[in-house]
Amino acid sequence: MSLPSTQKAIIVEETGGPEVLKVKTDYPVPTPQEGQVLVKNNISGINFIDTYFRTGLYPSPKPEVLGREGAGTIVALGPGANPYGFKVGDRVAWLSTGGYAEYSAVPAAKTIKVPDGLSDEDVIGAFLSGLTVVTLVKEAYPVQKGDWVLLHAAAGGAGFLMTQVLKSLGAKVIGTAGGPEKVELVKSLGADVVIDYKSDEGKDWVKKVKEVTGGEGVTVAYDSVGKDTWEGSLDAVKRKGTVIYFGNASGPVPPLPLTRLSPKCIKIGRPQLFGYIEKREEFEFYTNELFTLLKSGQLKVKIHKVYPLDQAEQAQRDLEGRKTTGKLLLRP
Ligand SMILES: NC(=O)c1ccc[n+]([C@@H]2O[C@H](COP(=O)([O-])OP(=O)(O)OC[C@H]3O[C@@H](n4cnc5c(N)ncnc54)[C@H](OP(=O)(O)O)[C@@H]3O)[C@@H](O)[C@H]2O)c1
Repeated sequence: MSLPSTQKAIIVEETGGPEVLKVKTDYPVPTPQEGQVLVKNNISGINFIDTYFRTGLYPSPKPEVLGREGAGTIVALGPGANPYGFKVGDRVAWLSTGGYAEYSAVPAAKTIKVPDGLSDEDVIGAFLSGLTVVTLVKEAYPVQKGDWVLLHAAAGGAGFLMTQVLKSLGAKVIGTAGGPEKVELVKSLGADVVIDYKSDEGKDWVKKVKEVTGGEGVTVAYDSVGKDTWEGSLDAVKRKGTVIYFGNASGPVPPLPLTRLSPKCIKIGRPQLFGYIEKREEFEFYTNELFTLLKSGQLKVKIHKVYPLDQAEQAQRDLEGRKTTGKLLLRP
């Protein structure tokens, strides 16, 4: 198959607001190196982490093509060994960088065949977000049946999936979400209590969490909102509870003195997905678990919108503007 030498891609040359996302139509198609495959993307995922690289909150070399995941077809293999047996024409999903583009050269070790019966949209609707969720509930804190769990941003890309997974584990879920429509969505997933933390009543969400849990607090709080909620999350967990910080949607959690944890003997964690799936067997283990949940229908995906590639700027504005529920996708 002959490949084009240039492609359409979204390039970030300098850090800044969404306006720094520039459409290029003559960006070189990468040549896959040893250990890589070249994928023609059918769908790419948009994640909040993309905005951290764009703003420089997470430093990364520029110019840069954002985008940590995609699904499509392998169109070329890098030279050398092919330990995972990939072929040109395989339908795959990948986790790496460079997804806001028609073609991405990505590590074979972070690429996996998509099983029949799952669409690319289903897979990327739940890939990076869903892998985050299954690792958070197993490794960051192993959720037990009957645990009271507080989950912020429960209507978002990760939150929509996590609410379902927590309920399937038998947890009692208190979700937070901004606005009545999001609250209804989270309730529809079976959350036990949903607090609109933007409303006057919901602003004191810690008090509500205490009321609901008989004054004790939750066993674990999963907090991806960060700056605006980190302190409340510490207050909302019970004695010997756990707080897992895993994102910065409102800004990062500031450095905190460890003695803040002492009075209630609280444990905290600040994991990242890529640390849990670094080894091939870990990546395969969790992707298999995720694909099983998707194929069985136990885990439902919600796509907020599929944006054309050249609307990546608008997509990031919508995500940061808290206007979305579920997952945002890009169609290269
Ligand atoms: N550690 C990891 O490995 C890992 C992996 C994946 C995702 N994450 C994190 O998980 C979170 C969710 O990611 P996502 O891609 O699925 O995004 P998302 O949840 O779809 O979007 C972020 C949500 O955060 C809430 N939010 C609260 N305060 C906000 C503010 N000041 N500005 C913007 N949003 C605010 C909004 O929901 P409401 O309006 O309902 O408040 C918004 O919809 C992010 O923090 C992300 O960094 C971490």
